[in-house]
Parts: sequence; structure tokens; C-alpha cells
Amino acid sequence: MALPHQGLLAPARSGGITRLAPRFAGASVGLSALDLDHRILHVALGILENEISYAARGETLGRTIGFLIHFTDEHFGREERLMEEICFDGLAAHKQSHDIMRAWMEASLPEIGERRNAHYDDDALAYLYDWWEEHSIREDKGYADFIFHRLDEAKRIVDSLPRADLPSFLASSAISGF
Ligand SMILES: [Fe+2]
Ligand SMILES: [Fe+2]
Repeated sequence: MALPHQGLLAPARSGGITRLAPRFAGASVGLSALDLDHRILHVALGILENEISYAARGETLGRTIGFLIHFTDEHFGREERLMEEICFDGLAAHKQSHDIMRAWMEASLPEIGERRNAHYDDDALAYLYDWWEEHSIREDKGYADFIFHRLDEAKRIVDSLPRADLPSFLASSAISGF
């Protein structure tokens, strides 16, 4: 099955979701604010999977998808500001990887549930799980290694960045269980 924007980044596997929780939520980058982002994204993906698998694909699905797109963009922005301010030489490649996922999510996620096609939904979710695991373990590890000896400076940078008021945003979305 062809997914929109599949040509930008081929899925690591396809043909149905594995139902295995990705490991990325347990991989620390050494900064609690960014580790929290990863855990929130991990839970949001689990909620999306549950809604696709067991819920009636009602109005909360659209809000969960909206949250994922919004929060992913925020998280990427935080990482990019950190990498820029700490002069990480892998910023351009890392941002390119983020931009590919931003484009894929914008193009593909709203289709979930709309098509009423379980194979499409499963492939899209499997792709998301694979991408996040690969990105967090390999690419996020790149800046995590870089800041390892400059954690105080990195923490000051990340803690100074604006964050959305998560509780109020969550209260208006399906992701209200944190
Ligand atoms: Fe990243
Ligand atoms: Fe990340």
C-alpha cells in the first residue's frame, strides 16, 4: 500500500502494525524537559493506537491527531533551538529529518480514520512507531552525546524555551489522562 509522502522516507516495515510499544520513551537524552516530551509523545501514540483499534473513531480521534501534530512540532522546535544555541554541527541534518516527519504527519495523519481503511491506519501507525524509535535512538542520541559534557548549559537553554500550557491544551483534547 502506498502512503502519502512514502517516497520521502520509506517505512522500516509494513504490512500491519506490530503492536509493540516503541522503546524510545525509555531512551534519555539527559535533559528532563526533552525526556518528558518523548514520554508524552509515547503515550499519545498509544492513545492513537487504542482509538484506531478499539474506539469508534469518533471526534476524539481528530483531536488526538491534532495534538500529535501540534506537540511534535513543538518538541522538534525545542530540540532545534537547543542544537542551534549550543552550536551542534549536526543541526542541518537533524532538522531535515524533523521536516520530513512534519510534512508526513501533516499529509498523512488526517487521513487516519477518514478512509475507513484498517490497513492504511495500521501501516501509518507502524510507520510512526518505527520512525520515532529510529529517530530517538539514533538521531536524538547525536545531540545527547554532544551535550553530555555541557549538561548545565544545555539545561539552561532548554528551560528558557517557551512551552505551551500543556494542561489547558490537554483539557481540550482527547489526551487528558496525564
Ligand atoms: Fe529529534
Ligand atoms: Fe526528540
